[in-house]
Amino acid sequence: MTGRLAGRLIGLGVTGSIAAYKAVELLRLLQAEGADVAVMLSPSATRFVGPLSFAALSRHPVETELLELTEDGRIGHIVVGDSADAIVVAPATAHFLGAMAAGLAGDVVTATCLATRAPVIVAPAMDGDMWTHPATRRNVANLRDEFGYTIVEPEAGPLASGQSGVGRLAELPRIVDAVVAAIGDRQVRVPDPAARPPVVATARDADLANRHIVVTVGGTREAIDPVRFIGNRSTGKMGVAIAEAALARGARVTVIAASVEVGLPLGAAVVRVESTADLRAALLRTTHAPDGAAGFDALVMAAAVADFRPVRPADRKLERGSGLILELEPTPDLLAEVGRIAHGLDSEGAPTREPLRPVPFVVGFAAETGSLDRAAEKLRRKGADLLVANDVAEPGSGFGTDTNRVAMLAADGSREDLPLLSKREVADRLLDCVALALDERDAALQTGRTNEPSPEPA
Ligand code: CTP
Repeated sequence: MTGRLAGRLIGLGVTGSIAAYKAVELLRLLQAEGADVAVMLSPSATRFVGPLSFAALSRHPVETELLELTEDGRIGHIVVGDSADAIVVAPATAHFLGAMAAGLAGDVVTATCLATRAPVIVAPAMDGDMWTHPATRRNVANLRDEFGYTIVEPEAGPLASGQSGVGRLAELPRIVDAVVAAIGDRQVRVPDPAARPPVVATARDADLANRHIVVTVGGTREAIDPVRFIGNRSTGKMGVAIAEAALARGARVTVIAASVEVGLPLGAAVVRVESTADLRAALLRTTHAPDGAAGFDALVMAAAVADFRPVRPADRKLERGSGLILELEPTPDLLAEVGRIAHGLDSEGAPTREPLRPVPFVVGFAAETGSLDRAAEKLRRKGADLLVANDVAEPGSGFGTDTNRVAMLAADGSREDLPLLSKREVADRLLDCVALALDERDAALQTGRTNEPSPEPA
């Protein structure tokens, strides 16, 4: 996974300097490196920047009050202190440096620093005279030499007072580099999202109302004989999370379920299948509505489809005998086939028939082991609009886990690497793309319609 902070949780403490607004950009830069970020604001920081933008961007509740508990009853700053891979305080005021040097935990930022065993990086910003004051010098020396904190020294330049001097918050990439260096090659401290700060359920609107979303879930089974089959490790958790999230956003959902180990969502129409051939038949039944229009707005192929099946499944139970050689044949690529139907293409990619109207949005998954380099090629080969790739060999990702770390690759060549998230949150991020793409599709259709020539007068 790309990003020097992929999988890391960074606690970002903001204190009351005029440079506090820069912390929003710092948050984005840390996220661009793959970090999950939880923000703490000192009371005076909240007078410069409100917690709302930090909460919306970080998707975690913003800690502002020492004595407030998280929704699930935990002590917020202790959770951050215990689970973060590093705490970065930027900007850090002279007051923060003094309080910290004295071990005074009067607000959430100082309390988190005191409560953590993670590396702490401090980027001061203040007036030039305050920076050179012996008290500040002593406090900085204390933090650096006694506590082992990394100090990202402020830079020279124009200051808020109108004067010039040393005291400007360091350039943000320097602060990010310092965080990366302080963490070094330590292991991710707490990969389990349940032990990290809670995720804010950013209330998503009913942005999939009137949409029909088809989700394939679970693993297909290919019969060897009436008793035995070739299967895979899919439990259906990711697909079910997508179906549940789509229902919560107002969609009509059809779940085509192969073998699953989890309950299927109430409120979805469910079609049960076993083999890849069953799944193909069920899918082909959904492509067209009775009036000939597209039968769904989006298809999410979260099912783990068998790649090979026995050429001739036995119709009676095979005896053990002295051994067995199975002849296998490749299964048809269902995602590619539905993609071709959607776009009216033949197997060579040439237009042969009418595309589905309106053209649905097709999402595939790519289960890889090791690098995700093949994912872009898979997206093209399968003609999907979006491919969600994950490394199933990575801890916390893949089969049976409640979390997943994925990269989302779009047909336009863009790629977004998400941090380790709950499967529900991954589902919502994926559906954010689906909802947006469908809205754009409809907007383009409407513009197209107004450009159509008016019918000939009778
Ligand atoms: N898929 C499919 N039909 C198949 C195999 C896979 O529709 N016969 C779909 C899966 O549901 C998934 C995507 O294709 O959405 C990618 O699956 P994956 O197993 O990663 O890719 P493969 O096509 O099997 O490619 P490879 O075996 O080379 O990894």
